[in-house]
Amino acid sequence: MTQDELKQLVAQAAVAHVVEGAWLGVGTGSTVNLFIDALAASGKRIRGAVSSSEASTARLRGHGIEVVDAASVDRLPVYVDGADEIDGRGHMIKGGGAALTREKIVADLADRFVCIADESKLVDVLGRFPLPVEVIPMAAPQVARRFAALGGQASLRLGVLTDNGHPILDVRGLRIADPLAMETEVNQWPGVVTVGIFARHRAKLALLGMPQGVRTLD
Ligand code: 5RP
Repeated sequence: MTQDELKQLVAQAAVAHVVEGAWLGVGTGSTVNLFIDALAASGKRIRGAVSSSEASTARLRGHGIEVVDAASVDRLPVYVDGADEIDGRGHMIKGGGAALTREKIVADLADRFVCIADESKLVDVLGRFPLPVEVIPMAAPQVARRFAALGGQASLRLGVLTDNGHPILDVRGLRIADPLAMETEVNQWPGVVTVGIFARHRAKLALLGMPQGVRTLD
């Protein structure tokens, strides 16, 4: 099976975890795009969606699904999103699509983070995928120096600004043995808007696409 077929498999499987008649949190990326299409095709009715990016909002609305601002909702039963890496405990690296800040905000509203990904995203230790960090521009060099002290090489993602208008640093060479500790540490650095480690907001359920079918981690 191709990677796209594995993504399609989990996108379809995630529809079963959507709570009918309730608000739904929707993430960003190619796997989520397939999920949005699968949800629309399923005929399952939701109250509406809270979206983590302009791109997902446009796709949801294209299917006639109402999208409301995160600020107008106080709780979401479920948030469905992809990941760039996920470990066996549901800790993730996210932000490959530059939507990490809004993703974390929407995930924070949710009781349950359902991660959908193909099997290539499953790792023992996070860090092979460059860690995205959204920053205030004037802090970027200092944040890069702080990562260097931890053994990471940070580079600016060229030509990319987030939906919030900020640049992203991608940090290579990290081995994130304790995701919660590193997320907590980097969150303290001045000028960091969001670090793409999702440990506090880890997946409660992961649906991983494999040639044999959907593997579930919970
Ligand atoms: C966007 C993300 C995505 O969830 C992540 O990049 C995975 O994307 P894809 O489903 O295209 O592999 O974090 O910021």
